[in-house]
Amino acid sequence: MTEPGEPDRPELTPEDFRREGLIEPPGTGPAVHDGTGRVTLSFTVEDKEAPPTQRAVRVPPGVSVFDSASWNGIAIDSTCGGHGTCHKCKVRVSPTTPVTRHDTRTFNREQLDDGWRLACLVQATRDHDVVVPPLVTRPKAATVGVGRQVILQPAVQKRYVELSEPTLEDQQPDLDRLLAAIDDLEPVPDLHVLRRLPKVLRESDFKVTAVVVDEALIDVEPGDTTSARYAIAFDLGTTTVVATLLDLVTGTPVSVASMLNKQQPFGGDVISRISATMLDSSALGRLQEAAAQTLATLAAQVCREGGVDPGQVYEVAVAGNATMTALVLGIDPEPLGVAPFVQTTATPSSVLASEIGLSLHPRARAAFFPALGAYVGGDIVAGMLATGMDRDKRVRLFIDVGTNCEIVVSSGDRILSTAAPAGPAFEGGAIRCGMRAADGAIEVVKLAPGDEHSEVELGVIGDVTPRGLCGSGLVDAVAELVKVGLLDASGRFVTDEVAKEVAPALADRLTSIGEERVFVLHRPRPDSDPTDGVVLSQRDVRELQFAKAAISTGWTLLLEELGLEHRDIQQVLLAGSFGSYLSAASAVRIGLVPKLPVLRIVAAGNVAGEGAKMALLSRRERAGALALLEEVTYVELSDRADFNDRFVDLLAFP
Ligand code: FES
Repeated sequence: MTEPGEPDRPELTPEDFRREGLIEPPGTGPAVHDGTGRVTLSFTVEDKEAPPTQRAVRVPPGVSVFDSASWNGIAIDSTCGGHGTCHKCKVRVSPTTPVTRHDTRTFNREQLDDGWRLACLVQATRDHDVVVPPLVTRPKAATVGVGRQVILQPAVQKRYVELSEPTLEDQQPDLDRLLAAIDDLEPVPDLHVLRRLPKVLRESDFKVTAVVVDEALIDVEPGDTTSARYAIAFDLGTTTVVATLLDLVTGTPVSVASMLNKQQPFGGDVISRISATMLDSSALGRLQEAAAQTLATLAAQVCREGGVDPGQVYEVAVAGNATMTALVLGIDPEPLGVAPFVQTTATPSSVLASEIGLSLHPRARAAFFPALGAYVGGDIVAGMLATGMDRDKRVRLFIDVGTNCEIVVSSGDRILSTAAPAGPAFEGGAIRCGMRAADGAIEVVKLAPGDEHSEVELGVIGDVTPRGLCGSGLVDAVAELVKVGLLDASGRFVTDEVAKEVAPALADRLTSIGEERVFVLHRPRPDSDPTDGVVLSQRDVRELQFAKAAISTGWTLLLEELGLEHRDIQQVLLAGSFGSYLSAASAVRIGLVPKLPVLRIVAAGNVAGEGAKMALLSRRERAGALALLEEVTYVELSDRADFNDRFVDLLAFP
């Protein structure tokens, strides 16, 4: 059993940290990074045929330049998946960037002095300017997810054929003539194709391109269109929806866009949206329409930004939780919301993209990820695919942090999953000054309790005046207050007397609004009333404690089920739009993740979206997602007798 403060938690020595690479040996320089804050990477992406484009992205420290680029839809050459072996991911960074032995094998002295390095080996430990040269290879494989290398084998295939024209001696039917020329595929034609075929063949002198998706011949296009083959990967989140337009010829992303799910007016979480359908018979149709509009808006945007004709997008993949999937398909979600929590189907069939409101190629297909249960849905199956949870022999813990938090533990042999209701705290809900991660949100908090100077360092999205606190800022604020001793282990703000003793320079920020104790993070002016600023209240701390206890109870019980201790965990993957931006050090400090060196805690990015990309790039990977249904055991926590005891034990800070 693992409880905060108990001696079975491994006490990490400086030697452990050194082994993990967190601290360089004495005399070799400063710490690599401490797992807190953000770094900005400013990419200049060169193109052979167009002027270079600029993109700045903010990522947690420690993520490789290669991964940071890939998460943000910036393509860098690679055939090894970021493992430092293909020597293709060449970028130019500051010449002071450390040189690895792989760099010395790839570049000559002059190039190294010029700042050329392999992107997968450059850790973003500080702000970097990165020049990405034009892609040189026409890849047979693409890198997606967490270092996953996918051989390009999309369900969308094109074949250009030049057919002999029929004569009185050769009256072979048009379709047979075409199918004989593409006999490696054996597709079944849509009626749509039969209707178009005679005209297209004759108008293009029998030189046509056949378009096949899976087993279906969906179109015949005049001339050679093989270089235009696109698909869109959707991460259909309850809060945010992300679309990535993929070039299936090269396996690279063309453009990425995201927006809030238009279902927001029906409530922020899946339960309120399910309730809406139970209370009002017209709500299901309206929710379906809102989801369709969200997907359609994003599809139009990525096509516009990528300069791609929507008619050349032949397939989409949708990774969403079970409720989002049901709603976009117009399936009644009620059984998902009430015990015994049953899905209508775990494996939704592929439908026409037009049936979910998308205006792409008229016969484009939409594929949905299978789900493990009502609360471990297709988004998590996609995440497991992207992180290779079933292929890695290491003991790994995967946490998708959100309102409903999904947890997966793999022992190398067995994989268990569960869901923990964390509540809305991480998304800024139920928090006094809470807000989403948008401009004005405090996302990083650092406190230095010096005697003379009150040091409160805030990282604010958009570098504007703070307006509120988003999830990562909340976790940071609480972790820092625990660290400096202004919050005790039970989560209570200390008395004014204790505050003056432990953190004199910060003590005056601890005050009250009405009856409630608050810590003032930002005041517009030194004499402003606390109610005008951004504060963290005692109730906010309690909300965060409930959320983190739900999550840590989840992974504690899964580890026990596998007979493992948390010290056995070799890698923690923090996933999702919130989890990936969480400070690893703060997550450890509040007990949201096991107490491990921060370099074992990896920001995994938008893994649901990455899984959706993999399914589009490779039919084998898509089959792998289905196989996960057999390999992963879902553990229901809500009926376990020991759940409540554990939950209460884990409310405290370690
Ligand atoms: S060496 Fe292959 S991706 Fe970096």
